[in-house]
Amino acid sequence: MTPHAEVRGPGEILQLTMAFYGSRALISAVELDLFTLLAEKPLDINELCDRAGMHPRGARDFLDALVALGLLEREDDGRYGNSPAAARHLDRREPGYVGGYTRLADTKLFPVWARLTDALRTGEKQVPSQGSFFGGYADPEAARGFLGAMDAVNTGVGHALAEALDWKEHSSFVDLGGARGNLAARLHQAHPHLHATCFDLPEMEQFFREHMRSLDLTDQVRFVAGDFFEDALPKADVFVVGHILHFFGLRERLDLLTRIHRALTPGGVVLVYDRMIDDDRRSAALSLLGSLNMLLTSDEGREYTPAECARWLSGSGFTDIRTTAVSGPDTLAIGRKPR
Ligand SMILES: C[S@@+](CC[C@H](N)C(=O)[O-])C[C@H]1O[C@@H](n2cnc3c(N)ncnc32)[C@H](O)[C@@H]1O
Repeated sequence: MTPHAEVRGPGEILQLTMAFYGSRALISAVELDLFTLLAEKPLDINELCDRAGMHPRGARDFLDALVALGLLEREDDGRYGNSPAAARHLDRREPGYVGGYTRLADTKLFPVWARLTDALRTGEKQVPSQGSFFGGYADPEAARGFLGAMDAVNTGVGHALAEALDWKEHSSFVDLGGARGNLAARLHQAHPHLHATCFDLPEMEQFFREHMRSLDLTDQVRFVAGDFFEDALPKADVFVVGHILHFFGLRERLDLLTRIHRALTPGGVVLVYDRMIDDDRRSAALSLLGSLNMLLTSDEGREYTPAECARWLSGSGFTDIRTTAVSGPDTLAIGRKPR
């Protein structure tokens, strides 16, 4: 039985022990908004200290560490600029911005991960029982940060889903728990003949309207407010349910899949995506660690394997089930409701 990651000695163990150094450096760079600043033009260390509000003592090591991590580039004249990936994904004004997730790691994930041992001892989540871990949607700025973090991931998934089906066969879809409609918008942009619906909690509607306005898609995507465990689901040819099942226990997962099956038109399709674990539970380290994140933040959630998902789909009446990797660590499971 060989472990997937090769840990040969103290070097690798120490590297893993201090992996958070790099994570914290990235978080600070995002907090200082360094990448947005450098998107204007490369700057030398004095200009950077001045504009980002850094003390000179740590600045050189910090900036050169970001060079070593592949996030910055240093020119021969000593000026710093963004690496190509940082320019695409860490400049706040870019559509591919993923810094919202980095901020979420800072404010929410770091503190809760410090309680992992307690969670392992008790089997209990380490966030308050009342209210959402992410603070709900009452604080609009915090909510936008969380929604931006989710969109950073689901934009790539949306592009992959646009290719995953022969959408000409279908005329409508519902993105269940579709947040502010980002993925629904991407699918609609790729296949404008589709009647697109985003279904989410009523509190989400204001953020949905705001986001659709910013994408110039007002009236192209419909919002239906409701609770997917309580309210009737809209009828559609395709249902998307992404980053939802992992938050709930088995009974609720099966309940939701059964409700989706009922709402689908005969011959319709369900698309489930999550950060699934490899069936052998040996190699998908990020998904396995992500499952611990569910332990820390939910009552009964955990990540799951494609084989488990296929079993639940089959048990809920779906056929022609297949699974495939999509973008990043996400896996997509597809099932059809028989005609
Ligand atoms: C982790 S987010 C996933 C968002 C999106 N599907 C994605 O992949 O980025 C979970 C979403 O489910 C919504 N949600 C949670 N419980 C819900 C419920 N009972 N009914 C409707 N929506 C719900 C939340 O408001 C949130 O937008």
